[in-house]
Amino acid sequence: MKKSEMTKAKPSAAEGLKELFVDELKDIVYAERALLKALPKMAKNASEPKLVEAIEEHIKVTEGQVSRLERIFEILGESSRGVKCEAMEGLIKEGESILEETEAGPVRDAGIISACQKVEHYEIASYGTLVAFARTLGEDEIASLLAETLAEEKDADKQLTESAYNSINFDAAEED
Ligand SMILES: [Fe+2]
Ligand SMILES: [Fe+2]
Repeated sequence: MKKSEMTKAKPSAAEGLKELFVDELKDIVYAERALLKALPKMAKNASEPKLVEAIEEHIKVTEGQVSRLERIFEILGESSRGVKCEAMEGLIKEGESILEETEAGPVRDAGIISACQKVEHYEIASYGTLVAFARTLGEDEIASLLAETLAEEKDADKQLTESAYNSINFDAAEED
C-alpha cells in the first residue's frame, strides 16, 4: 500500500500493544453492558421455553463476565468505563429489527437465535484476541480470566446451535 493511502492516526492513538489491549477491553465491557440491557427483550420475545431459558441463563453469565472485566481493570489500574462499541450497537439494532420483521412463534425464535449467534461470534472473536494479547503481554492472570469468558461464549454459541437444530428451525420451516 502506498504511504498516502494509509489512515493517519488520531493524536489519541494507542502507542503500543498494552494500550491497544486496554482500548479493546473498554470496547468489550461496553458491549457486554449493552447486551445486558438488550437480552431481556430477546428473552421476552422468545416462545420456545428452552430458548427463553438459554437466554435467561446467558444474562446471568454475562453479569459474571462484566464483573470479571471489572476485576481485570482493577488489576491493570485502569477505569472500567467503557467506550462505545459500534459493532455491538449494530448487532443489537439488527436483533431488534428481526423482532419487528417476524410474528411471535417459531419464526421469530429462529430470528432471535440468528441474532444471538452473531453476537456470540463477535464476542468469541473479541475474547480470542484479548486472550492472545494478554498472553503476549505476560498478563497471565488476566489471560486466564479472559479465557474463562471465552469458554462461556463458546458454550453459549453451542447451546444456541443445539436449540436451533433441535426443533426451532424445524418448526419454523413448517410455518410456511
Ligand atoms: Fe459476553
Ligand atoms: Fe455472550
